Amino acid sequence: MGSLRRWIARFLLLAVALCGSCAKTPEVEPEVVLKLGHSLPTAHPVHRAMVFMAERVDEKSAGKMRVEVFPNEQLGTEKECIEALQLGYLAMTKTSSAPMEGFVEQMKIFGVPYLFRDTTHFWNVLNGPIGMELLLAGESKRLRGLCYYDAGARSFYTKDRPIRTPADLDGLKIRVQNSIMSMKMVSAMGGAPTPISFGELYTSLDQGVVDGAENNPPSFRQARHNEVCQYYILDEHTRLPDILVISTKIWAGLTAEQRRILQEAVDESVVLQRRQWDEAEVEDLKFVEEGGVTIIRPDKGPFRDAVKDVWTEFDGTEIGALIDRIQETQ
Ligand code: GCU
Repeated sequence: MGSLRRWIARFLLLAVALCGSCAKTPEVEPEVVLKLGHSLPTAHPVHRAMVFMAERVDEKSAGKMRVEVFPNEQLGTEKECIEALQLGYLAMTKTSSAPMEGFVEQMKIFGVPYLFRDTTHFWNVLNGPIGMELLLAGESKRLRGLCYYDAGARSFYTKDRPIRTPADLDGLKIRVQNSIMSMKMVSAMGGAPTPISFGELYTSLDQGVVDGAENNPPSFRQARHNEVCQYYILDEHTRLPDILVISTKIWAGLTAEQRRILQEAVDESVVLQRRQWDEAEVEDLKFVEEGGVTIIRPDKGPFRDAVKDVWTEFDGTEIGALIDRIQETQ
């Protein structure tokens, strides 16, 4: 009887072990692993879109391709990630268009304040020939844009000073991205621009290194800057898209099939992200307001007037010609 029980026990153990291994999908060693570094926190809608893209790549390639997403500047600031792409040390990055200006001159166009009439105009430009030209404008610098993600409009937020007109920015230290255009814009409005990486901004605000910053509602909330800033001023000065970029060194090493899979997954993630963005903006604005942040909706006229020179300095240049083409776009 004892030996029968032992035999049954052994049989059960074996069955469990076998079932366990049946339940697991056989591990496929990926032939290609693409690392993607970016600056945003994991609850951010743009991060979530990239995680979805990575899942789609996995599914479409039956595990033969893998995209590994590293958030929160784990692999470096946006500028550092772009440089790593140029060297081919890193495959992909998601960056705001602002730091791209330092590498691809034409990207300055997005930093021209109040360039787009509204969201429809913005997307008509990005989804049309100009948008495509700009995505590929960095190829000679080893940077190939794969898509744009929505990053809404950027607005100022301050620790403790309400801003209603540009004159209220006088003397305030405003954190900007690593971007000449952002610096020009803040200076034109009367503030003192201070470049700081996104990852260091919370502490910089908290410790009073800067008096304010500017960003879209999801980034304001997800980076918890609302905890240290009392006012959010919806002047909506720029629409800087987020751009997913791949190193041309890495792209050149992919087969036609691998490129197709990656681009298809990216395009699907764009559709999802665009759907989720508008909701996130509304929800995050509500969240910060309920948490005690005062939302100011200023007259945008004086802000627009203050940055006129940022436009005119491009007269007769390549960027000037792009400004004209964008204004002519319906
Ligand atoms: C946005 C953008 C990020 C960027 C950040 C910033 O949130 O999506 O890519 O890092 O702005 O202001 O630095």
